[in-house]
Amino acid sequence: MNRIPVITIDGPTASGKGTVASRVAQTLGFALLDSGALYRLTALAATESGVDLGDEPGLVGIAAGLDIRFEGERILLSGREVSDAIRAEAVGVAASRIAILPGVRSALVDLQHGFRRAPGLVADGRDMGTVIFPDADLKVFLTASVEARADRRYKQLIGKGFPANMRALLQDLRDRDARDTERAVAPLKPAEGAHLLDTSDMTIEQAVEKVLGWYQSVPQ
Ligand code: DC
Repeated sequence: MNRIPVITIDGPTASGKGTVASRVAQTLGFALLDSGALYRLTALAATESGVDLGDEPGLVGIAAGLDIRFEGERILLSGREVSDAIRAEAVGVAASRIAILPGVRSALVDLQHGFRRAPGLVADGRDMGTVIFPDADLKVFLTASVEARADRRYKQLIGKGFPANMRALLQDLRDRDARDTERAVAPLKPAEGAHLLDTSDMTIEQAVEKVLGWYQSVPQ
């Protein structure tokens, strides 16, 4: 059986990697894995079932039993659409808290591998190139300054009708970066051989072109 190609795009929160990953996947006709959504779904499901965010065994049970469906842009949790609900700031903060727990991370591994289907996969997250798909054909580490990311997140939240405060957002991003990069298990860091892409002064289109160009020059 031929191997199924994978492109991994890792980076900090609100770096634009989700949008870049989705456009690259669309252009290539590949499947898309938004791994952050899995941590967000676990956090949301736990909160709704009254499981404490420090209760690792409880959270592992939730992660292992997630009933989720991705239908294009729509994300369903136990049959209910939660696409917007999981983007709320509080859910992102909860996701980054439970993502430090090794049991939660392991419980989500098989689910993530299951997204690797022909003709290929674009996977975005924090540890796609380092832990989940170490054999990826192309690894990208996408960053942007904390100010550029806060500005994008602000516009995104306001656009979805959520309240947003710039100063609080900056603080949240700094705290979340610290949690994501300093945790013991699968910390956010560039994979070996990853291409670095700083998008602070780039449009989405420029970033997408860059990734597609790199992929085209990967020896097949
Ligand atoms: O990319 P995002 O903001 O939707 O991710 C939400 C949280 O999930 C993030 O703060 C850290 C965690 N996460 C992770 O630990 N590993 C991943 N591969 C993806 C997300």
